[in-house]
Amino acid sequence: MTDPKKLFIKTYGCQMNVYDSERMAESLGASGYVQTDQIDGADMVMINTCHIREKASEKLFSDLGRLRPAKEANPNLKIAVAGCVAQAEGAEIMRRMPLVDLVVGPQSYHRLPEMEAKIQKGERAIETEFPVEDKFDHLPERKAMRGPAAFLTVQEGCDKFCAFCVVPYTRGSEVSRPPERLLAEARNLASRGVRELTLLGQNVNAYSAGGYGLARLIREMAQLDGIQRLRYMTSHPNDMEDDLIAAHGDCPALMPYLHLPVQSGSDRILKAMNRKHTADDYLRVLDRVRNARPDILLTSDFIVGFPGETDADFQDTLNLVRKVGYGMAYSFKYSARPGTPAAEKLDVDTAVADARLQELQALLTSQQRAAQDAMVGQVVDVLYEKAGRLDGQMVGKSQHLHAVHVTDAAGQVGQLVRVRITESKSNSLAGVPLG
Ligand code: 5AD
Ligand code: SF4
Repeated sequence: MTDPKKLFIKTYGCQMNVYDSERMAESLGASGYVQTDQIDGADMVMINTCHIREKASEKLFSDLGRLRPAKEANPNLKIAVAGCVAQAEGAEIMRRMPLVDLVVGPQSYHRLPEMEAKIQKGERAIETEFPVEDKFDHLPERKAMRGPAAFLTVQEGCDKFCAFCVVPYTRGSEVSRPPERLLAEARNLASRGVRELTLLGQNVNAYSAGGYGLARLIREMAQLDGIQRLRYMTSHPNDMEDDLIAAHGDCPALMPYLHLPVQSGSDRILKAMNRKHTADDYLRVLDRVRNARPDILLTSDFIVGFPGETDADFQDTLNLVRKVGYGMAYSFKYSARPGTPAAEKLDVDTAVADARLQELQALLTSQQRAAQDAMVGQVVDVLYEKAGRLDGQMVGKSQHLHAVHVTDAAGQVGQLVRVRITESKSNSLAGVPLG
């Protein structure tokens, strides 16, 4: 038998890319590859890209530049580019970067084994179409041993067309996977030790297939043997339907955590962003979610410096953040993406946008700290995901997705343990098991 070839994957972007990287590694497994976390000595280096902000595509070209000496030293090294930048700029990547052997878009990675065979013959391979067949029907069954927490993509694409966003163009329109396939994949994952599933989609709460909405899918997954926890992301406020909100109150496996991006607190900017909701609409949704599940931890995404954003608009964003009290949130400086409607408009002065970003981040960080500090003295459930760096320590996540370091010499990966929180550190909590 020949030695397996080594595959190194660098993943940028969202959790959907993390999931895709796993599935691509499994797909290339059929061509004799095993994944490595060492770039030196790899036979194939794959960069799974994200296109959401400008810096992401710049990063790809600088990563590729840095691979040049390795490729010169070893012409057998194969270089692959996957993900949303591959989808949007595949031909350009091939033209600008002769060292790239393979370009594969997010809808085509089931074709990797054929593409790999082609590049082994010294040809180059590019697939960035939206193929008629469903990649999930053509991917190998998931066999690897796994940690207790896994992602499961249930929906892809977006029909919302926020004025700043490339996703509707790179990932295409909304498609939901059939519920029976998802339930089978969840059962399979549970039989391999998975206890927590995060259901993924660009617009996951728009999930709709075979008479199922997201709430029904969650309720049925909660019944599967072994599945103890469920989460979902990312959601749009306009798709938070009654039964999904109700599930937060009556489905104990659904964790008290909701990532619900709002982007801005100004109605004028929300309108210009084509979000199709006001700040008040959003706050009303959160009130209903909090009524269903009072201890829910809320997170969001914000963009500052959207074209036309005034100081008053930015103050509206700060006020919304103060009203909500987030457990965590991401904030970004607006970056114009070619082809999106907002890219035609005049940018806010960079220095102004930078200052706003800093001010918003400071507020969000103080809220995150407060939410974390409030856990000290409380009892949480921690799903152990791995051993900690210190002897006798386990690391896992609480219901609220806080990382928790637990002093527990007898702890085993996959256990769900009641833990008393003793300390709040910069990005994690520490605790001890309850007697
Ligand atoms: N500029 C800055 N941030 C963006 N996002 C999406 N597009 C852009 C852009 N052009 C942010 C949004 C989204 C998150 C995934 O990325 O906040 O929710
Ligand atoms: Fe982009 Fe808006 Fe769709 Fe989210 S809802 S993926 S921000 S277009």
